[in-house]
Amino acid sequence: PTRVLTGITTSGTPHLGNYAGAIRPAVAASHVPGVESFYFLADYHALIKVQDPARVQRSTLEIAATWLACGLEPDKVWFYRQSDIPEIPELTWLLTCVAGKGILNRAHAYKAAVDKNRAEGEDDDAAINAGLFMYPVLMAADILLFNAHKVPVGRDQVQHIEMARDFGQRFNHLYGEHFTLPEAVIEAQVATLPGLDGRKMSKSYDNTIPLFAPRPTLKKLIASIVTDSRAPGEAKDADSSNVFALYQAFATPAETAAMRAAFERGIGWGDAKQALFERIDAELAPQRERYEALMAKPAEIEAILRDGAQRLRVAHATPLLARLREAVGLRDLS
Ligand code: TYM
Repeated sequence: PTRVLTGITTSGTPHLGNYAGAIRPAVAASHVPGVESFYFLADYHALIKVQDPARVQRSTLEIAATWLACGLEPDKVWFYRQSDIPEIPELTWLLTCVAGKGILNRAHAYKAAVDKNRAEGEDDDAAINAGLFMYPVLMAADILLFNAHKVPVGRDQVQHIEMARDFGQRFNHLYGEHFTLPEAVIEAQVATLPGLDGRKMSKSYDNTIPLFAPRPTLKKLIASIVTDSRAPGEAKDADSSNVFALYQAFATPAETAAMRAAFERGIGWGDAKQALFERIDAELAPQRERYEALMAKPAEIEAILRDGAQRLRVAHATPLLARLREAVGLRDLS
């Protein structure tokens, strides 16, 4: 079967970008026959940015409840928490020793942090932890450990998947064909969802719409999306509009075409936002209800995650690590 794998960092409350870019396509793929799916909570990755234990724990619960509320079936897919699989940090080290440092120097997230330091007149690496630098190697271990073929992600993650291919290839070249080289899968019409201010929707920009915000909050946040100042009756440019980009991610092609026509006819921003609110709310309302019920049962979620990790270690992680240790020379001496 084709193996599909993706993760979400447990550094905050899940937002519409996580949903449209990762969760929705992943849950849909998990229902396709012949697909084996791996969905996990990237809590080791969270520690790079969040050093607030309560926040990491809360986010882990929220993201787990989100996956389950969105239709993930934990007895049909592999659903687990990264930190419950000790083979992941173990593989991270094996990959660290084949990963080119020069490649890591070019990782977008690290480079952006260096550029920010330079702009502020600081040393290049001021206040940058080594975790940020090593981020792509940990992510490569997540992917390669399970020999995933496809990794559905938003466009921001594509470089990381290319790096995973690179590290996997180097390892295979040195030690034999152990790893499948993964491919990124991007849903074209939702590649990058904009946030309230028009930049990429991201926890780091504080411009997100939380996936399961209560209805009145959802409405208020949508009303605050930045638009141009064209009045009702004036034709509007759909392709440069954040409201349109969000609408498109939640509407059928026919609804999207109708909205494009309405933009050309000069729909007012208030009406366009109302249509967006209704579209999103219609899709999310049933899942919001399930989410709220799940958030009240953290012990059940904990049991699901532990069980998933335990079975996955036995089925995949432990035997593969044993082969890899053998391959690199960490061997029984007798
Ligand atoms: P994270 O937690 O930043 O985001 C989780 C997923 O949501 C997607 N995404 C978006 N998609 C569209 N529009 C947006 N505005 C938007 N914001 C976020 C991301 O592309 C991602 O698919 N490093 C990863 C987590 C990770 C992972 C992995 C993913 C760790 N190991 C292995 C895949 C495979 C991350 O921080 O995603």
